[in-house]
Amino acid sequence: MSRLAYVNGRFLRQAEAGVSIEDRGYQLGDGVYEVWAVMDGKLADAEGHFARLERSLGEISIPMPMSRAALTVALRETVRRNRVRYGIVYLQVTRGVARRDHAFPGVAVAPTVVITARSGDAAAAEARAAVGVSVITRPDDRWARCDIKTVNLLPNVLAKQAAKGEGAFEAWLVDKDGLVTEGASSNAWIVDANGVLRTRDTGANILRGVTRLSLIDVAREAGYTVEERPFTVAEAKAAREAFLTGAGALVMPIVRIDDSPVANGHPGEVATALRSAYIRRAVESAI
Ligand code: PDD
Repeated sequence: MSRLAYVNGRFLRQAEAGVSIEDRGYQLGDGVYEVWAVMDGKLADAEGHFARLERSLGEISIPMPMSRAALTVALRETVRRNRVRYGIVYLQVTRGVARRDHAFPGVAVAPTVVITARSGDAAAAEARAAVGVSVITRPDDRWARCDIKTVNLLPNVLAKQAAKGEGAFEAWLVDKDGLVTEGASSNAWIVDANGVLRTRDTGANILRGVTRLSLIDVAREAGYTVEERPFTVAEAKAAREAFLTGAGALVMPIVRIDDSPVANGHPGEVATALRSAYIRRAVESAI
C-alpha cells in the first residue's frame, strides 16, 4: 500500500506529493509543525497539540488554516487512509508560497498544509522501554550558530517584518550586551567618531558576509582603517556614518537608526565612495 499525504486539501501518493520550491517553509523555515501520537488509530493528547499549534501559529502571525474540527477530520482521514493504528501523524503549516523575501508576503497568501502519518512498531517500542535507552550531553546552542548560512531563518524573518512594519529597510540585531551583531539579512557597519570603519568580529554569532569580507579589503586599499570590533547601538547612533553590506543590497548607506538620524540624515561620504569602489571591483572580477 503506498503512503498517502494530505497536501492543501488533496490526498496524493506521498512519493509524488510536493509543494512549491517558493514555499516559505522550504525557503525560510517560516512555518510550524505538530506531531500527535496515534493510538488505536486515534489522536492522543489531541487538545494539547491543538492548543500548542494555535499558539505557535499565533506567535508568528500565521492564521489557523482551518478550524480545529476541519483539521481533526483531515488528520483522522490521513491516519485512516494510511491504516495507522499505532504511530504518529505529522502536520506542517507554513506561511505559504510567495516570491522569496524575508518579510511576510505583501498580499495575504494561503498557508500550506501538509499532513502525513506513519506506523510505528509497538512491539519494538515496548522491548526498548523494557531495557531503557542512553543519552549524551551537548551544549544547548539552539540557535547560536548564526555563522551557518542555514535556511532556518524564522528569527530573521520576524525581525525583517518588524522593520518593514516600521517603514525601515533592515533590522539590526542587538545581543545581550547591547552590541549590534548584524542585520536580519546583511552585515552592520559604522564609521565611528575617529573615522574608523567598524564591523563586528566573526564568531558564531554572525554570518561571515562575503560582501563584508571584500569590503574590508576594498576599504583598506582605499586607505581607511577597518577594525573588526563590535559597537553599541548608542555608538551607532552617534557615528559619523552607518551602512550595511550584503549580496542583495551591496553597500547601502543608513541614514536613520530607530528614531535618530545618523549624522545629518544623508548618506555618508565614506559609504557612498565605498559603494562605488566595491561595485567597480565586483564588476571587474565577476565571472
Ligand atoms: N543575506 N547576515 C545575514 C544574516 C545574511 O542573511 C546575509 C546575506 C549577510 C550578508 O552576507 P553576504 O555579504 O555574503 O551576502 C549577513 C542574503 C543576501 C539574503 O538572505 O537574501
